[in-house]
Order: sequence, then structure tokens, then C-alpha cells
Amino acid sequence: MKPIKIGLLGLGTVGGGVVTVLTRNAHEIARRAGREVVISHAAAKEYDAGAIQGLDQVGRITDDGFAAVDDPEVEIIIELIGGYSPAKEMVLRAIDNGKHVITANKAMIAVHGNEIFRAAQEKGVIVAFEAAVAGGIPIIKAIREGLVANRIQWAAGIINGTGNFILTEMRDKGRDFTGVLKGAQELGYAEADPTFDVEGIDAAHKLTIMGSIAFGIPLQFDRTYTEGISKIEQQDVVYADELGYRIKHLGITRRTDAGIELRVHPTLIPARRLIANVDGVMNAVLVQGDAVGPTLYYGAGAGSLPTASSVVADVIDVVRALTTDPGNRVPHLAFQPGALSDLPVLDMEDIHTAYYLRMQAVDQPGVMSSVTTILGDLGISIEAIIQKEPEAGAGHVPVIMLTQRVQERNMNKAIRQIEALDTIAGNVHRIRVETLD
Ligand code: HSE
Repeated sequence: MKPIKIGLLGLGTVGGGVVTVLTRNAHEIARRAGREVVISHAAAKEYDAGAIQGLDQVGRITDDGFAAVDDPEVEIIIELIGGYSPAKEMVLRAIDNGKHVITANKAMIAVHGNEIFRAAQEKGVIVAFEAAVAGGIPIIKAIREGLVANRIQWAAGIINGTGNFILTEMRDKGRDFTGVLKGAQELGYAEADPTFDVEGIDAAHKLTIMGSIAFGIPLQFDRTYTEGISKIEQQDVVYADELGYRIKHLGITRRTDAGIELRVHPTLIPARRLIANVDGVMNAVLVQGDAVGPTLYYGAGAGSLPTASSVVADVIDVVRALTTDPGNRVPHLAFQPGALSDLPVLDMEDIHTAYYLRMQAVDQPGVMSSVTTILGDLGISIEAIIQKEPEAGAGHVPVIMLTQRVQERNMNKAIRQIEALDTIAGNVHRIRVETLD
């Protein structure tokens, strides 16, 4: 049988890794796919030829992505340019040309995926995106196929390696946020714009995709609540430890009677949970299904070869599915396109969770009771309180509280009232708490 010809857009970190894996493992890949796979046309504006193992086996290299997309020899396009444009235009043109598409582009899928999948369905082609979520961890495959018998109840994941690296360094080395970010950028994991990592946008792209395939809802990035880690202070990491928790930047999606939760924010989780011990740039995703119970997936969430591992797995999937009837393939969002649900994505004020609160209280009698009265009047139970010694000469003492689960709307009211007290200085710092049980 003739080899399958690939058009590869982008020869950066991931593109280079794909060249290496496809050439280095060519024999194993052909045995698995049933066909030889070759990159007949790569397109990149710039690349470091000396750094890419196997580049000599690429048919031809041009600087025009659209030329690869229009190349009649190419059957599968791998898009590894990233960003919204021109990636989206190239992908839509590839689909229009009747080519299958593989992408690692989480931003494009989270924001434009509904339109892209509709176009792909009309043309009867596959758009595969395993590498878009959690890099080398096959989490799309796990949720979309391995757990397909289950009613998924919730999924929660550490899905940004840069953020996890920063929080880990803050805890292990006692360093503050700003100092650590630079180190993550030097390691090459951070997005081109680091605010995507630290403000949770990258994680929100990935969570949007996970929520859709877990619950069969259209992609709704604009409904995903997104809060980053840039306001986490060293003292929060220390107090969380004292209380038996770790702070992790989690993406959480959950099915409730009222709708679907889609939220990314720093979260205290019990230190004894396996996922609480996922450190450095590693990613992990917990998925709870009604039949299987909790399942945990762990691995490298970024990097050249780990991400290439997922891209090439998609290549083999596409090759295996080439001769199948489009109607009998795994649906893009795990559920048949006509069977997507219109369950609403909940507003953040409607979700229920527990809270860690940190505030600066004037060191005088009665302060604590005014705070606990506000919480009590709003039906918020306190689980634990730590009050620290005032530092020499300081008129304020740090007070840290853990509450039980409450609706976020009520907690917002409580925080507004506490901040209005004369005896509380500045803002109340709030971090949500999840037990993940
Ligand atoms: N910047 C991302 C991360 C890379 O740190 O996880 C993979 O999406």
C-alpha cells in the first residue's frame, strides 16, 4: 500500500518533536497503522534545522502553510502553529480540501471548535486534538473512548505545567511568585504570552474541551470561569500546609442538577490526595465516572516529545479510520453531533464549594466574633480557624479560616460585609477548597 502523506504546519518545539517521533519510530508506526507514514511537505517560517532529528527525511520544506494545505498529495494536515490566526484559516481550508486535520491547538479548538467540527462533519473528515489537553497524557482518548460507558460526574485536573511548577517552587523553596515565573520560562514550558499560563487562560482552554467531551455540551470558552495564580502569596502556601492542604491550580468541571460547572482557579486540596502530590511541570487529571469511580491520569503536560506522542497517536488513529464510514467514527465531542446537550454552564455565583479565607484583623477583643457572626448569619459553617501571633509592632494579626461548602453568592456577600468592618484591614483573600472525594 502507498505511504500516507502528511503536511506539517510548524517546525517549532512540538513540530520538531513530531518529525523526530514519526521518523525514529517509523517502523513501529507502520506496523500499528497498517501503512507507512511520511511527512511529504512541511511548512514553517523559521526553524532550527540542526535541532530537529529526522528532518532530512521530510519530503520538502516551504515557508507557506497554505501551500501545504493545498498540496494535492497531502492527505492529513498536522497544525502546530498555535494561536487563532492563521491556524484557523489553514485548518478550515484543509477541511474544505477534504483533508483530515490533527492539531495541538487548544486555543483554536476551545474558541472555534464548534465551527471547525461542523465544517469537518459536513466534509466527512476527522479533526483530532489529543495533544490540545494535557500534552502527552491521552486524556481525550480516556474520556471519549475508555470511559464511554460511564455517566461522567466530574473531572478535575492540573492542566498547566507552568502554573504547577510555580506553585511547587513556592512551596518547596519558599520563593515568591515573580521570581519563580522566570525559571519556568527558561525551561521552555511557558506559553509565548506567560499571562496565558499564570492567569489560567491556557488551563481554561483545556478545561473547556474536557467539559465538552465529558458531558456532551458545545464548547463554551466564554462561559468558563478563569482565575490565575498571580495573587497567591507565599504565606497562603504555608498556611495551607499547616491545615493539611496543598494549593494547586485546578480546572474543574462537574455535572450538577442545575447545570455544568466549568471553572479554573487556585484550589486547596487535601495533601493526602494523590493529585496533591503532582509537582513541578507534570500534569494530572482525575475523572470520576458513575461506574468506574475515580480514575487518575498522570504525565508530562508539555514539551517536545511528550506532546508529539499525542500528535502521532492521532496520526495512527486517523490512518486506521481512513476507510471507515464518517458516520461510524468517534464523534469529535464524544457524543453524536445531534445529541449534544443544552445543559447550561453555571455562573460562578451558583456553584457550591468550601473556602479558605485569610484576613488581617485588628488585635482587639470582639473582632473574631464579629467575623463569625457575619458568616453564621449567612449560614456559613466554620471548619477551622488559625489566628497567628501579631508580629512585633504590628497592630494586625493574620486570621485564617476554612469554611464548609456554601454557595459562592453567599460567600461573596460575607466577604463584602467582613471587608466593611473597621476591625478588618484590606481585602479578604479567598481560595476555594475541594476535597475531590
Ligand atoms: N504552557 C503550557 C503549560 C504548555 O505550561 O502547560 C502546554 O499546553
